[in-house]
Amino acid sequence: MSDIHQIPADLVIHGGKVVTPETVLEASIAVRDGRIVAVGAADAMPAARETFDASGLHVLPGAIDVHVHFRDPGYTHKEDFESGTASAAFGGVTTVFDMPNTIPTVADGPALKAKHAIASAKAHVDYGLYAVLGEDTIEKVPELVEAGIVGFKCYMGNTFGRIPSPSTGAMLEAFEVVAPTGKRISLHAETNSIMERRQQRLVESGRRDPLAHLASRPAVVAVEAVARAAILAEWTGARIHILHISSAAELRPLAEAKARGVDITGETCPHYLMLGEDDYARCRGVIRVNPPVREKENQEPLWAALLDGTIDMIATDHAPHTPEEKTRADIWSVDCGFPGVESQMPLMLSEVAAGRYSISDYVRWSAANPAKVWGLYPRKGVIQAGADADFAFVDLDRAWTLHDADLHSRSKISPWDGRAVTGLPLHTMVRGRFVVKDRVLVAETRGFGRSVHAIQEMPAPQPKHADQTLAAVIALRPEEAA
Ligand code: NCD
Ligand code: ZN
Repeated sequence: MSDIHQIPADLVIHGGKVVTPETVLEASIAVRDGRIVAVGAADAMPAARETFDASGLHVLPGAIDVHVHFRDPGYTHKEDFESGTASAAFGGVTTVFDMPNTIPTVADGPALKAKHAIASAKAHVDYGLYAVLGEDTIEKVPELVEAGIVGFKCYMGNTFGRIPSPSTGAMLEAFEVVAPTGKRISLHAETNSIMERRQQRLVESGRRDPLAHLASRPAVVAVEAVARAAILAEWTGARIHILHISSAAELRPLAEAKARGVDITGETCPHYLMLGEDDYARCRGVIRVNPPVREKENQEPLWAALLDGTIDMIATDHAPHTPEEKTRADIWSVDCGFPGVESQMPLMLSEVAAGRYSISDYVRWSAANPAKVWGLYPRKGVIQAGADADFAFVDLDRAWTLHDADLHSRSKISPWDGRAVTGLPLHTMVRGRFVVKDRVLVAETRGFGRSVHAIQEMPAPQPKHADQTLAAVIALRPEEAA
């Protein structure tokens, strides 16, 4: 008898359809100490203290949403780590990466430690924390890595929080410094000088309608930024990730960089796949987000890029604000973004129901690929022995309607209100523990979430042109050597 049969499991899940990136299999899953110990036939499972009947449900690896804004500390009237992670759990999301545009900005060790304390006290699901890579934080890189981050965030363009965008010179130096750490740098890839100038002119011209926001940020803003970031990554060997890909046009510099061997990955969000310029009239300021929701012609190329792997994953850019902040008459004064961590899975599963792609494609984009790109695979992102028992139990046939009022985010205003969807995450499990069961939050899991930086294993760093970095050339003092 093999080892797994001698020690009883804590839990065996029977009757579910287990989804992998390749296939769907009817299998039982045994869980011990928060990890999967076996996946297979029911009669091959060890004895268990508890069993759970998942008949009629698909068991998916919990989604990994690498782009959320939980606003804590600083903007807790919009969201906090508890409400944000509860919302995630209701959306079948078991790991989130939280962005650093909070107050204070996560730009040094003390700010990062303060956010770790908040997150570990409040989180219902696992999380990673981002730190800002900006003009003034380059020398903080070692202390930030030391204090536990999942990656760096670089704001090439202005967005909520008004974190100043670094010059190209500062970006090059920052990439030089991060490359030897092996950490990935996520980019808000919109070039600031282009859109600031356009916005200024549009304001002066008197435009303040919702579509003026789109007019201020045409796709070239993203194309230029993606191409420039890819050149700096190629030169330095820094790993980069393009956040919220919104346009067909920026797929070309992304695909070209991949073809050149740059370690560059990308995400898109449901709103770029499913909403278009026609939705501005209905949603007004509610749809205002950076980058903007664009012309409908972008949707099919974005879907195709997901299917062919040019875009690696789905994230949400969950960006909660209050109704007052989203409904101001002047579009320029409306806060950018809306909640999404809870609606991503039902929106994307609706396209599985419609036959656009398979459920295996979906788990590749929502779980397996994010885990691979961020050094968490195969500990997370897959249902197999050795992985964390992070699951979304989903009724793929359930037709229902998204209502903002039902969101568990503190922000109950989004462009998805009233949208018909098919596919409901019924229960969510994190490391063997139900966090949501029968659509009810298990309140005691507050503080159960853990930072994933401790289990992150990025591949060996690949710095390039190390002899030409600013640090290297400053250290070189030919006059002293002579
Ligand atoms: C985000 C926010 O509100 O924090 N807003 C947005 O429009 N996407 C910031 C960001 O990701 O750009
Ligand atoms: Zn952004």
